[in-house]
Amino acid sequence: MAKATKSAAGRNGGQATKAAAKSNGRSTSSSTRTASSSARSNGSSRSTASRSAGASKSAASRANGSSKGGQRFDEATLLHELFVEELRDIYWAEKHLTKALPKMAKAATSEELRGAFQNHLSQTEEQIGRVEQVFQLLGLPARAKKCEAMEGLVQEAQQGIEDTPKGSSVRDAALIICAQKVEHYEIAAYGSLAQLAKTMGQNEVADLLVQTLEEEKETDQLLTELAVSGINITAEQESE
Ligand SMILES: [Fe+2]
Repeated sequence: MAKATKSAAGRNGGQATKAAAKSNGRSTSSSTRTASSSARSNGSSRSTASRSAGASKSAASRANGSSKGGQRFDEATLLHELFVEELRDIYWAEKHLTKALPKMAKAATSEELRGAFQNHLSQTEEQIGRVEQVFQLLGLPARAKKCEAMEGLVQEAQQGIEDTPKGSSVRDAALIICAQKVEHYEIAAYGSLAQLAKTMGQNEVADLLVQTLEEEKETDQLLTELAVSGINITAEQESE
């Protein structure tokens, strides 16, 4: 499986990255390729979805076999499997975040930052609902796969709380850094997933993912504003 995923990522990673950049309004070069591959994979994506996750293993052996024997394998299936794996990753990540955000809110010094974390908690719950809708549209059970990155980022936030004095702005500055790292991870994940969904002709799925992507970008922006409009300045004064 690792090999198949790696090879799928190798072939599609560049396109996903480029296309993610496109969604930020920077690149246009991948659009024609995306359109043609979208038409190609359009028909197969539904039936692939209903075949469920159990297909992963067989695809892995197909891919392994083909790399040795020079056979062609079903790229649309591998891309779909990569998509589902990534979806399970962000599903776990979002759920994990709902446990961390109340702790971050409680630890925050500024009322505004506490409010931002509380708002983002209810937003995250809605985002979990959207990921579940995506699973449903694909005809798959909603299943989470542990996201090591999100676990690490949440540990960093916990460390930031332990390393800074209670009631200080420097603690808020540390919390904002951790929260923005989380947002950037989510922006990368949803940007890539939305683009893959478009490539596979899953427009309804893509719309749901883009909705969440925009919310993550807004949260990131809000955190920047909180930092530069006061928290970082007060934190600097505390250090003098
Ligand atoms: Fe989120």
